[in-house]
Amino acid sequence: MAVDDIGMFQLDRDAAKAYQRYLVPPFFAPCAERLFGLVPPRRGRVLDVACGTGVVALAVARRSGADARVTGVDSNEAMLAVARLLAGHAGTAASVEWVRASAERLPFADRAFDLVYCQQGLQFLADAAAGVAQMRRVLRPGGRAGVAVWRGPEHHVPFHEIAAIWDEYLGHGLGAVLRVPFSGPQGSALRALFQSAGFTDVRLRIAIIPVRFASPEAFLHEESLATPARAAYTAAERFTVEAMRERIRQRLTWAVDDEGVTFPMQTWLLTATAA
Ligand SMILES: C[S@@+](CC[C@H](N)C(=O)[O-])C[C@H]1O[C@@H](n2cnc3c(N)ncnc32)[C@H](O)[C@@H]1O
Repeated sequence: MAVDDIGMFQLDRDAAKAYQRYLVPPFFAPCAERLFGLVPPRRGRVLDVACGTGVVALAVARRSGADARVTGVDSNEAMLAVARLLAGHAGTAASVEWVRASAERLPFADRAFDLVYCQQGLQFLADAAAGVAQMRRVLRPGGRAGVAVWRGPEHHVPFHEIAAIWDEYLGHGLGAVLRVPFSGPQGSALRALFQSAGFTDVRLRIAIIPVRFASPEAFLHEESLATPARAAYTAAERFTVEAMRERIRQRLTWAVDDEGVTFPMQTWLLTATAA
């Protein structure tokens, strides 16, 4: 896998399924709920940018039923394949359209949507300003945007620990996989991106989302299976994996209790109105 693909969070089919299984429930489903608390799903035309396996798009379709026409767009076919599968199981297939495209070049008409979400996607774009300009372009005047971007690495030490372990034991620059999600535009820079693109009423909140895994080793294992590190991790020798497990146990003692390992995630939640 090329380093560019690593940074852009490009997954193969097995990793996309593992993402849905291991990472959506603790991280992305609760984050979507916090986003919906500020920008509730509603009737009309709704776009989920960098939709991944569709946690936001599917929740909007479920809640709004026939009143919403929901589109999920992502550059990764494996993520979209899982989204289609989930939509089929949930019986919401008819109401969600899945489109493979780059967020920096959205293949939709100007003013085509009433509401745009982008949950933990902006930080992966090669050109975040272009992505935000596209969100503005496809929103009708008065349309709303709801965006989530993780806060910086200093707030997410457990990921830093795994990144360092991957770099040491798996190589291939894989640590970047867990640095990019926490390297997105922060605070005033995030606000300025939206203001420059022609959004008004730009508001930022910090949300804190507690997460829990069965153990530090389970956290390492599930992150490794559900990210671009999967191939290197599953190919690693048994003694290498044992050494990785021992290292994460040592590094996360401060976050361990009698029920596993727990720590807070911190995310910017941005809301804005298209002028
Ligand atoms: C961490 S996932 C978040 C997915 C989803 N929004 C969620 O909350 O679960 C980041 C997503 O961004 C997508 N992505 C990365 N670069 C992209 C781009 N340039 N255009 C569209 N999607 C992109 C990846 O394929 C991946 O599905």
